[in-house]
Amino acid sequence: MCGIFGYVGPSPHGAKIVLEGLKRLEYRGYDSWGVAVVPASKGKIVVKKKAGRIGKASVSDMPKGSVAFGHTRWATHGGVTDVNAHPHLDCTGNLAVIHNGIFENYESIKQDLIKKGHRFISQTDTEVIAHLIEEYAKTMMLSKAVQRAYNEMEGLNAFIVIQTKEHLLLGVRNGSPLVVGFGDPENYLASDAAALIPHTRQVHFLEDDQMVIVGTDQVNIFNARTGERIRPLKQKLTWSAEQAEKGKFPYFMLKEIYEQPGLISEIAGESTIQAKKIAEVLKNAHGAYIVGCGTAGYAALAAQYLFSAISNRHVNSVIGSEFGYLQNFLVKRSAVLALSQSGETMDILEGVKKAKDKGAKIVSLVNVVGSSLWRLSDVRLPIGVGPEKGVASTKAFIGKLTHLILLSYAMIGKITKGQRILTRAAKAATEVLKEQRVSKIMKLAKKLKNTEHIFVIGRGLSYPAALETALKIKEISYIHAEGLAAGELKHGPLALVTKGIPCIVFAPNDETQGANLAGAMEMKARGAYIIGISPKKHEVFDYYLPVKDVGEATIIPNVIVAQLLAYYLAIERGFDPDMPRNLAKSVTVK
Ligand code: AGP
Repeated sequence: MCGIFGYVGPSPHGAKIVLEGLKRLEYRGYDSWGVAVVPASKGKIVVKKKAGRIGKASVSDMPKGSVAFGHTRWATHGGVTDVNAHPHLDCTGNLAVIHNGIFENYESIKQDLIKKGHRFISQTDTEVIAHLIEEYAKTMMLSKAVQRAYNEMEGLNAFIVIQTKEHLLLGVRNGSPLVVGFGDPENYLASDAAALIPHTRQVHFLEDDQMVIVGTDQVNIFNARTGERIRPLKQKLTWSAEQAEKGKFPYFMLKEIYEQPGLISEIAGESTIQAKKIAEVLKNAHGAYIVGCGTAGYAALAAQYLFSAISNRHVNSVIGSEFGYLQNFLVKRSAVLALSQSGETMDILEGVKKAKDKGAKIVSLVNVVGSSLWRLSDVRLPIGVGPEKGVASTKAFIGKLTHLILLSYAMIGKITKGQRILTRAAKAATEVLKEQRVSKIMKLAKKLKNTEHIFVIGRGLSYPAALETALKIKEISYIHAEGLAAGELKHGPLALVTKGIPCIVFAPNDETQGANLAGAMEMKARGAYIIGISPKKHEVFDYYLPVKDVGEATIIPNVIVAQLLAYYLAIERGFDPDMPRNLAKSVTVK
């Protein structure tokens, strides 16, 4: 959940290089930030850290130094305060640590260290790592002390250590991502490959239990349990620098929304071979689960409807955090299709590891190549939408749906039909993004900006669309939105409908339209304000947002309308859609 960035090289501007790296990582966690540098003029490590966003922060008041690292925090242990911000120092001030994850057994170790005279100033688990390494480093070399501390820690972590006597970064990971960036002649460590792009595209994704010692012109990787040397597996990142920047857009989320029509066409035109390969795996499987969390979970639910409607196949969609409780059906021939933008979502990784232990075949649709899920999978398919930096997932969701529609048609040997429908969906998405259409959505956002509750209803494929719409609205505008299957209204939720409450109704030209409109009428009869998203206007709509009918792919333009509505609601309400409160881009803790 946190952003980690480290630099070691010839430049004396290590603190500035790190701060720029943190700004590219802030979407991973933004409760607080901090930078530490080993001063070139010798002396103790200098740390600058503060609660709140990096914003216009500067490190020009920090000393020159060519070993530096920094951290953007998503708080797990200890409140959001300056003191709890990372980096954390040991007693001497000669050693500092930054950390991503949870050090589960920190309390007992902290008590032991206090008995040995260590003094703590924060409520974090991370500070204990610094003092634990300090204690071991009294009787062994630093790398051994780091290794010893790592082997004593329980929980899923990644951390980096710097010390005044060493011109090195020492990093180790178990569960939380850590990537080595090979520069020339400098080197980097980061929690996310995208942050390295302005410096290098040559990277090594550390595996669990791997420790790395990084110098200006050396990178040594070891097994953190056994000490055995490991050869770096250099991979080349294919993303470009501008893909990882906002460009002319005010927020990443808006840029990523506008990239979607082009990405749909790209995927539809380029992913047929992989689609056919995965279709074979799923066709030969004895039962298949499709899993994802949050937005990815709604893509998994949409897949259940797509596979039924197009491929006449039954697949079980399960949200990632529940999958571990539903695995007794898994057998050797089962298949699990895991959907994830980051490939680091802990709930997915845990469920997939359990499924793997049962012998199931793991197929994954992941956006970050080289991520933990990518490396756990037997068959993997890149979503291929470039770095997604808005915390609210947009293009990765539409990318998943695009692949899943292709896959559904590939299952019945009609992939070209899938490509045709997606070409129409790309055009429908372009329509939605036309200025006149967007201004109608902006107008609706102005109308709804002070509302407290919003209902979103749909049936069939519009049911996951309704859930995703509600999530988008909730997570960036903080309006309480509830997505539900339209048929469920009468079983309870209708009791909540009062005069003027807005209800978004998806009414595509499919078998669900009549029933959906009936549901809308029931709500309208009780005073609801009905917002229709549909290929044609119906009398029940108080506000109408047109969307072209593109068959089963209509979910794509439908959701793009919803993404824009959520975005403009956030803007109208004065919030930052890229970094919503309490959230982070990748949920790497359980
Ligand atoms: C989506 O807008 C949210 N940010 C969140 O639900 C996200 O989709 C979920 O955490 C899964 O992330 P992943 O795709 O990286 O696994």
